[in-house]
Amino acid sequence: MELQKNISIKPYNSFGINVYANLFATFNSIDELSELLEFNQPQTTNRKPQTLILGGGSNILFTNNFDGLVLKNEIKFIKEIKEDEHHIYVQVGAGENWHQFVLHCIKKGWAGVENLSLIPGNVGASPMQNIGAYGVELKDVFYSLEAWHIHDKKMVNFTLNDCEFGYRDSVFKRKYKDQFVITDVTFRLNRIPEYHISYGAIGQELEKMGVKGLSLQAVSQAIINIRSSKLPDPAKIGNAGSFFKNPEISSSQFAVLSSQFPGIVGYNLPNGHVKLAAGWLIEQCGPENGTSWKGFRRGDAGCHDKQALVLVNYGNALGSEIYNLSEEILQTVKEKFGVSLEREVNIS
Ligand code: EPU
Repeated sequence: MELQKNISIKPYNSFGINVYANLFATFNSIDELSELLEFNQPQTTNRKPQTLILGGGSNILFTNNFDGLVLKNEIKFIKEIKEDEHHIYVQVGAGENWHQFVLHCIKKGWAGVENLSLIPGNVGASPMQNIGAYGVELKDVFYSLEAWHIHDKKMVNFTLNDCEFGYRDSVFKRKYKDQFVITDVTFRLNRIPEYHISYGAIGQELEKMGVKGLSLQAVSQAIINIRSSKLPDPAKIGNAGSFFKNPEISSSQFAVLSSQFPGIVGYNLPNGHVKLAAGWLIEQCGPENGTSWKGFRRGDAGCHDKQALVLVNYGNALGSEIYNLSEEILQTVKEKFGVSLEREVNIS
């Protein structure tokens, strides 16, 4: 546990934004975490101590240097804690890389997370925003989690209900924002797979791969192929996955929009509302009439050419340049469709 001063956090955020933190440290136990938090208590009454907990840094856009202590969670372990006829319960340290955990499950024959292959970030961040892809969300395999209460200095257990999961949402983004540090997550995985392959292009991809009998490996590989064809690899082009959420509108608003814009893409939700594909909306707008944001680049900030929902850093973009681009995108979508997009990525 070493405290580093004035350190660039470019290697620790998938957008690759070069900002500096006053102080930086990693922790791999709850004791180390509590010691570091204690250290960062206010020295004077007028300075609020700032602490930022980073997992994989894959859902954050830094627009400024961080005036405080950045703590990187490196609590790592994977432990089978119990099993019953249908399930295996696996407790995982928050600092484990998400995709490595998925691969581990596939090797062990534990089912449930294969559709969530190749999502960047760490296990500890997965419940924060209830990560989801290809018809599966984290909440479908979630059992419980443990988190350190920063103020009360104690561990708290959260069940599925406690987390109040929604679309890219949980209590940790709302009423408990900045109050807890997730230290481990327990998953309830299936002994017998229930394959979810009806979503999007999974079936087509499996066919293309020549897959005859379904397996966890095959489904995972199909998802990896689809994701890699659309989403930029953060190791090559900085990004944080979808920058915006897909907005939900009423069915009557959807009917009006559909008559004006026949190509509009929407999915009916069980609550009677419609979820719009924000990527489509963004693709239809641009910096000027008749142009599209998709593939747009200004300096090193851009909108990905294969998926308009993803903003990218081609190298040396400032966080503020990407933020300003997102603002322009929000405005043009609002003007053309009357729909307000919401950012999915956290802004710091
Ligand atoms: N579309 C366009 N143009 C674009 C992008 C999308 O027209 O540039 C339209 C197409 O009709 C396409 C549809 O939107 O068929 C849906 O696109 P896609 O399958 O790529 O999914 P998405 O709704 O844009 C969501 C998640 C992704 C997740 C995929 C697959 C959100 C905010 N994003 O994207 O999650 O991988 O579904 O399940 O819900 C992430 O959260 O970082 C992320 C990548």
